[in-house]
Amino acid sequence: MTDELKIPSHVAIIMDGNGRWARRRGLPRVMGHYQGAQVAEDIVEYATELGIRHLTLYAFSTENWNRPKEEVEALFKLLEDYLRNKKQKLYDLKIRVRFIGRRDRIPKTLVELMKQIEEESKHFNRLTLNLAIDYGGRDEILRAVRKLLKDNPKVINEETFSQYLDLSCSPDPDLLIRTAGEKRISNFLLWNIAYTEFYFTDTLWPDFTREEFLKAIKDFSKRKRKFGRVIDE
Ligand code: IPE
Ligand code: IPE
Ligand code: MG
Repeated sequence: MTDELKIPSHVAIIMDGNGRWARRRGLPRVMGHYQGAQVAEDIVEYATELGIRHLTLYAFSTENWNRPKEEVEALFKLLEDYLRNKKQKLYDLKIRVRFIGRRDRIPKTLVELMKQIEEESKHFNRLTLNLAIDYGGRDEILRAVRKLLKDNPKVINEETFSQYLDLSCSPDPDLLIRTAGEKRISNFLLWNIAYTEFYFTDTLWPDFTREEFLKAIKDFSKRKRKFGRVIDE
């Protein structure tokens, strides 16, 4: 048995449990989102230190529109403020930032900022950070199909189809982490997680730490990925 650490090339995270974290402290839910954003910032930095090349974070799902209007508004404000204040730090870390999801329903000022950040960071390649905002896996597949029908390409195979999806700049995730005890996908990256390894933890996202991230990677390192083949033990 080897304890060698295998650094996954692409880690995806469903950052869940902000609301519960706040509730347990008698705080408004938005305080949980605020704390969660700080944790995300630290995990992004740690991912660069570990040599992870792609990190995808689920920030707002197509279903999250069904939350109270005040929470939705607070989430977009937090996202926009955070991106505005932290973009220089991301550039200093040589991070390329990409956004996945729809752009037709979210605040216009946020869309402008997203475009600016994608442009300003496009030549960095230490880590590609994909932020999923108004993202849903089914919505993504439908958008790809509509575009495909318009383009009407001669060949449609898995490789060409993937190029129509939002994550076209990153390989499929090797590891998907979900915090806060829920064991479901909640419409995240449906196409791309065909062979992804899953790691679930009860820790609420605002309590998630570098140590726990490393624990998930150690766990991943022990997995035998078979991709449908027979591997001699
Ligand atoms: C995840 O935390 C953040 C978003 C979905 C935006 P939640 O807000 O879902 O927290 P819980 O699940 O209610 O605890
Ligand atoms: C998934 O979490 C979406 C994000 C983390 C952004 P949710 O809290 O929205 O998922 P459900 O509702 O528990 O499935
Ligand atoms: Mg939740």
